[in-house]
Amino acid sequence: MIDARDGWFFVSTRHTSYIMKVGEAGHLEHVHYGGYIPSDAEGLGCIQGPDDIRIGDGTYYDEEHQHTLLARKLLEYSAPGKGDTRESAVIAEYRNGLITLDPLFRSFRIYEGKDYPVLPAVSGEGASTLEITLRDAVLPIDIILRYSAYEEEDVIVRSAEIRNGMDEPLLLRSFASAMLDLPDAGWDIMTFDGTWGRERKENRRRLVPGVSYVDSKLGASSNEHNPLVILLRPETDDRHGEAIAVNMVYSGNHMEKAEVSPYGLCRLIASINPYGFCWKLDKGCSFRSPEAVISYSASGLDGLSYALHRFAERRIERSRAVYSDRPIAINSWEAAYFDIGEEKLLELAARAADVGIELFVLDDGWFGRRTDDTRGLGDWTADTSKLPEGLSGFVRRIHALGMKAGIWVEPEMISIDSALYEKHPEWLVSIPGRKPAVARHQYFLDLTRDDVVSYVLDSMADVFSSGVDYVKWDMNRNMSDYFTSCPEAGHQGEFFHRYMQGLYTLLEKLTSAFPDILFESCSSGGNRFDLGALAFSPQGWTSDDTDALERMEIQHGTLRGYPLSSLSNHVTASPNHQNLRRTSLEDRFGTACFGILGYELDLTKLSEEELAAIRDQVSFYKEHRRTLQHGRFSHLPPSDGAVFWMACSDDEMIILEHQMRNGVNTGRHRRLVIPSADPSAVYSIERREKHVFREDLGDKWDEWASVQHQGFSAVVSGSILSSAGIALPSIFTGKAIEPTTRILLDNASDLYVVRRIR
Ligand code: GLA
Repeated sequence: MIDARDGWFFVSTRHTSYIMKVGEAGHLEHVHYGGYIPSDAEGLGCIQGPDDIRIGDGTYYDEEHQHTLLARKLLEYSAPGKGDTRESAVIAEYRNGLITLDPLFRSFRIYEGKDYPVLPAVSGEGASTLEITLRDAVLPIDIILRYSAYEEEDVIVRSAEIRNGMDEPLLLRSFASAMLDLPDAGWDIMTFDGTWGRERKENRRRLVPGVSYVDSKLGASSNEHNPLVILLRPETDDRHGEAIAVNMVYSGNHMEKAEVSPYGLCRLIASINPYGFCWKLDKGCSFRSPEAVISYSASGLDGLSYALHRFAERRIERSRAVYSDRPIAINSWEAAYFDIGEEKLLELAARAADVGIELFVLDDGWFGRRTDDTRGLGDWTADTSKLPEGLSGFVRRIHALGMKAGIWVEPEMISIDSALYEKHPEWLVSIPGRKPAVARHQYFLDLTRDDVVSYVLDSMADVFSSGVDYVKWDMNRNMSDYFTSCPEAGHQGEFFHRYMQGLYTLLEKLTSAFPDILFESCSSGGNRFDLGALAFSPQGWTSDDTDALERMEIQHGTLRGYPLSSLSNHVTASPNHQNLRRTSLEDRFGTACFGILGYELDLTKLSEEELAAIRDQVSFYKEHRRTLQHGRFSHLPPSDGAVFWMACSDDEMIILEHQMRNGVNTGRHRRLVIPSADPSAVYSIERREKHVFREDLGDKWDEWASVQHQGFSAVVSGSILSSAGIALPSIFTGKAIEPTTRILLDNASDLYVVRRIR
């Protein structure tokens, strides 16, 4: 809901309020973002208090406003040069290097929906929007701020647009999607960082005076720092306390910064990364920022994640597949790498179909000269020495097995050793006169150019017309040699963002032309896992690191901002191909099943016992798929060295207990507590029975095999589950084994199904 009265603006959702007002000198000031306050609440003026102090070296706005010290105010969109020396939301250069701007309130409008033609636009359904126009005190430069409130989801979408009405060009060097000033600096900052193979690991630290920032300069939202950033109180945990999230709906270079000012105020800014960015705005032209999502929760990190998850599924992802049952995949990559041929692939597919797997994904290597990763990118026709009847013929054979068929593509790339390069060397991104840097023997196609976008569009449309049901859209390098050959570009600093615009146009056209194809985004694993990518591909390849232990951290971090239905997780071989860690097949499943399950190993080499275990995993997953893909994710209290995850739907809760390391003779019972259980209800709890393999038990195999194993189930009041919790059966530690004792190794998990029975 949006309200405006007497220079005050109220943007409210069900549990939150965002309040602004026009200050005495005409600046748009921030008043409050947090718990809900009605617009007619008495005493609104008391939130901020009066400007009643004068400071020794303070820079006051002008002679008439001897109390307006911008550096000490909470502002909505601050520019340099008028006394606010904190980080600016906008830096725009005119007249040979001037950067002073003074955006003052001019007008506003309120409307239903959201009108912001920038890709990938968040849906306007369920939104009402407040649009505030600021104009520079002197120059005809307008900044339009938009706030769209999504009442149900407790999310506000923000964006900014700048229009140059001057007769001379404006060089935009830095332009925030959102700036948020908070009245105190008692916050921690949580970021999601890493690199290839260890994406989005959670880091939390106290904000201290000065600026803390994360960014990406990779040309993608990056595996180094995700655009999701959370401010939270030092005492906030998964279930309690205040937290504010900001996330960009953008897959390119971004920057999020949090500043603690000398006056103990906190400023949060989310923007396109100013690194290498400069957009030339001629007279009458405007620039629109990507959108940013903000959300506030008073019920801890899980409450915040719930809002972000629902919002991503409801308002960002546009695919028809968002709420569908996503198929369980077998992917050929770690099963066969480049060593592929139709018969071998069909054998793998048949084995997969036999255990209940539903989708066969043919990964890299099926096209052009692509016998290894040194060649072939750009030539999107099937290699008939591998697929004799072409892609359509292969797809038909997969369909004949009763499976869906999927294909891997990496459309944004070109290899020097390719027919495409022979024809169009000028399409490769490089600076004339310089040798371009290389990654994985491949280069970017210049998607800032319309002709390149059209070529990729046509070649992908051909591939997607082969009858495939699923596409994995990969992008396996970071940008270097920043150069655009786009004739419309006014400045080389437009390269990164123009590239994103080309990419989004491409994705928009292809996903609309093939609405029944399920798209999965990938970028060397999770190098482009963000809300912009999710808009087109409702699931993303979380990481190339599929080791279950590493994945516990990667999935945990990812789930802070992205829904279960967006995380694609595969059970792969042991020892793991990334770190050679050995993990039991059942424990690999335990982690992978929280999200979109798949397999990526050579099933033709597995034993009958292993195949039987996979068959049972697949049928367990199918039975609980709605919950594991679309349920509400939360953390349960950790206990005795184990963490507990929960996916909860109307019908059931699926709980994962994961221990990093098995102790010896700990003597304690680990406890399962479900704080959200209804105290007046009664629940049944059942542990999923796992297969135990001889190699996991070694010399203890005979002893274990001789015990009549009982499994675990219980019927318990919600009053117990939500407070005392229940003691879980002991874990085998080296002496005698009892019928109830369970086997839990290092990096091991158990799964529980909890249902309300009355
Ligand atoms: C990337 C992806 C992998 C696989 C390979 C194929 O590394 O992350 O899953 O598709 O490319 O080359």
